[in-house]
Amino acid sequence: MKKSIRDFDLENKKVIIRVDFNVPIKDGVITDDNRIVESLETINYAIAHNAKVILFSHLGRVKEEADLAKNDLKPVAKRLEELLDKKVVFADRTRNLEPFVEKLENGDVLLVQNTRYEDLEGKKESGNDPELGAYWASLGDIFINDAFGTSHRAHASNVGIATHLESGIGFLVEKELNAFEPVLTKPERPFTVILGGAKVSDKIGVIENLVTKADYILVGGGMAYTFLKAMGVEIGSSLLDTESIDFCKKILKKYKNKIILPIDHICASEISENVKPIVTETIKGIGLDIGPKTIELFKKYLETSKTIVWNGPVGYSEIDSFAKGTKSLLEIVSKTKALSIIGGGDTAAAAIKFGYKNKFSHISTGGGASLELLEGKKLPGIEIIKDF
Ligand code: 3PG
Repeated sequence: MKKSIRDFDLENKKVIIRVDFNVPIKDGVITDDNRIVESLETINYAIAHNAKVILFSHLGRVKEEADLAKNDLKPVAKRLEELLDKKVVFADRTRNLEPFVEKLENGDVLLVQNTRYEDLEGKKESGNDPELGAYWASLGDIFINDAFGTSHRAHASNVGIATHLESGIGFLVEKELNAFEPVLTKPERPFTVILGGAKVSDKIGVIENLVTKADYILVGGGMAYTFLKAMGVEIGSSLLDTESIDFCKKILKKYKNKIILPIDHICASEISENVKPIVTETIKGIGLDIGPKTIELFKKYLETSKTIVWNGPVGYSEIDSFAKGTKSLLEIVSKTKALSIIGGGDTAAAAIKFGYKNKFSHISTGGGASLELLEGKKLPGIEIIKDF
């Protein structure tokens, strides 16, 4: 068991908490604040235990000068202030932070500017520059990693800081690890995985790991068409991941009864809100969602499952006419008694957008991180934290 924030005396201590505030922002407005909301428990705990709270997060990717303004964490500081109902001091820089830290009283909260501003010259954050990790660590007494979404990265603001300070995990990370653990070690059966999203190549590691553990893998989304192509099915102009055809053929041959593919489709002549979708068994134009017969087929597997893990929408769910498959499966899974886990990223965003936030056992805040866990990999941001 990892050492947790509960295992430290926080009173009067400078507690650095790595959070994942990498939230979508459009024209300065946060369009989904779920990651901030999910971080509140740990932050409030530190406040209530009289810590001086220092928050670090990245936002987006910073490669050139123009990325600075669009990835400014200031709007996040404002939203955090509203959610905490408390003043949040924002340090609009990533160095010379001592004047901000020195002013902190017990229970105060400081948010530091986007850690990836340090990537502009020489990828100091993403490259886990030892000097940077040591500098940030010098500002605090204790380090808590509560950024599950970033735990698959070994960056200065997680692994770098943790190298120098007594460290633990926060409540969000604890919740994530506890949710995935039974699935990866002793899933209750039948164990069904729903896999969607665009490309098979993004999910090869997950398929290879889960196909040996799960009873069924229901495949939808863009990646279903590469599997269908591998079976010799005509897929029209649907998304094709040519490089993965051989992989699909191999998996289908070995696990024929485990991989369940769509039997009908919602197709359209182009990806647009303005075209009329058609329901077909033979793909015409572009396949953009699973059809009603597939929903019924998938329902049979899901209704009897005791464990369900879902990664990737099963249709082009950004456009309403192609979101029915994803919405229907959300409804079906939410009605089951199974332990149900939604991997982060687009599936989590769809679940929240369509009103299913509290209807699953767990909705992960980490896209890449949960994928890597499901691939059976260790996460460096977690590994660096000592066991209790
Ligand atoms: C995410 O959104 O998955 C995390 O915040 C990690 O972001 P990254 O892929 O840019 O490292």
